[in-house]
Amino acid sequence: MERTKFILDEKEMPTSWYNVLPDLPKPLPPELHPGTKEPSRLPPPLFPEAINEQEFSKERYIEIPEEVQAVYRLWRPTPLYRAYRLEKALDTPAKIFYKYEGTSPAGSHKPNTAVAQAYYNKKEGVKRLCTETGAGQWGSALAMGCMFFGLELKVYMVKVSYHQKPYRRIMMETWGAKVVPSPSQDTEVGRRILKENPDSPGSLGIAISEAIEDAFAHDDTKYSIGSVANHVLLHQTIVGLEAMKQMKKADAYPDIIVGCIGGGSNFAGVFLPFIKDKIEGRKPKLRIICVEPQACPSITKGVYTWDYGDEAGLAPILKMYTLGHTFVPPPVHAGGLRYHGKAPIISHLHKLGLVEARAEYQVPVFEAGVKFARAEGIIPAPEPSHAIKVVIDEALACKESGEKKTILLALSGHGHFDLGAYDEYLSGKLQDYEYPEEKVKEALAHLPQVPNGIK
Ligand SMILES: Cc1ncc(COP(=O)(O)O)c(C=O)c1O
Repeated sequence: MERTKFILDEKEMPTSWYNVLPDLPKPLPPELHPGTKEPSRLPPPLFPEAINEQEFSKERYIEIPEEVQAVYRLWRPTPLYRAYRLEKALDTPAKIFYKYEGTSPAGSHKPNTAVAQAYYNKKEGVKRLCTETGAGQWGSALAMGCMFFGLELKVYMVKVSYHQKPYRRIMMETWGAKVVPSPSQDTEVGRRILKENPDSPGSLGIAISEAIEDAFAHDDTKYSIGSVANHVLLHQTIVGLEAMKQMKKADAYPDIIVGCIGGGSNFAGVFLPFIKDKIEGRKPKLRIICVEPQACPSITKGVYTWDYGDEAGLAPILKMYTLGHTFVPPPVHAGGLRYHGKAPIISHLHKLGLVEARAEYQVPVFEAGVKFARAEGIIPAPEPSHAIKVVIDEALACKESGEKKTILLALSGHGHFDLGAYDEYLSGKLQDYEYPEEKVKEALAHLPQVPNGIK
């Protein structure tokens, strides 16, 4: 009998997250204070102390609190699948595995950090959280996390997704959160942007600014972020740690790991535990491929430099691949990939030559998503469909060369609330967006000037 799913018992769920910071071949550049533009170990008072500590921790393994593990056990460990049917459909000698995070109640990997962040805020007496959301995946995950720990939540949802994905808003409201389209009339930043452009589709950068402004304006409120930050990537490593155990059960080790990157959290969660083997020389040939949209190609066409994490310059300044913090990406359906920057950890690893990057157009991405759904049954979210496109390309390259490579796909979520986008694709109405070169040039003119000598 061919084994399709590699399942871990609840007892085998990892009890610590993996922190890559002490294992990086070169230290990560510091985060800069958005006001002073000087390196600052403590970001502005956005996060609870426990999260601030994790952001810069030198501990290799950080214990997952029992209260967080107890919530994780509702859906974790998540399954690892062998994609026999996709392999057959592609007629490839490659072995394709996928680690599927769509089994969480919110339908993606996002609850892995949402539950942890809600827990630490509650423990430190915070009453209310504010956040942004793109596709609505992050907002719904945090709405669920806040519901478990009895916190209020306000979500600034990127306007284009608010209208494209009403069901995500309803999920958030079902779990008790308040949701507004961003840019909104509720903050100074939102009002300014609406005055400049009443039809602004919004962006993650704008929504982050609104959420931060709201958190600063209320004493009982902190801000919570769904990607990019070191602590978010840390919380997601439970995915890769489980996948390592499951690949062992499958008697396999990946030659290539592929994932999509918005801010980079789902993919980093999968590959960081594996990259330790590459950094330490045990798996020097391991390839790690990040996939981003052609409409928002931060790594493949952006610059590696200091930039704000948000539109209004309230968030810390990070060294990362960026298209400029004022850049508003075209309204592609992969709302979670419409972010101007990339996680500093992933940017640093790319600069060091340890991870590769590719950019894909949305029509071939949906073609790949449909091919996957017709082979494996699962309808993938548009974000990981970017990764599926590259997995298919790599598997077809194996067919050409006859190589039997093992490919691991980070399948970060299902697409049940993205069926409007599938409908557009299936009826031939979906369009590609060219890389908006002029708009990026304009946005890059607004990068912050940081003091000389900061590396
Ligand atoms: C299903 C899914 N995958 C991927 C992403 C991209 O975010 P990240 O790069 O942080 O994983 C999102 C963001 O909303 C998402 O919803």
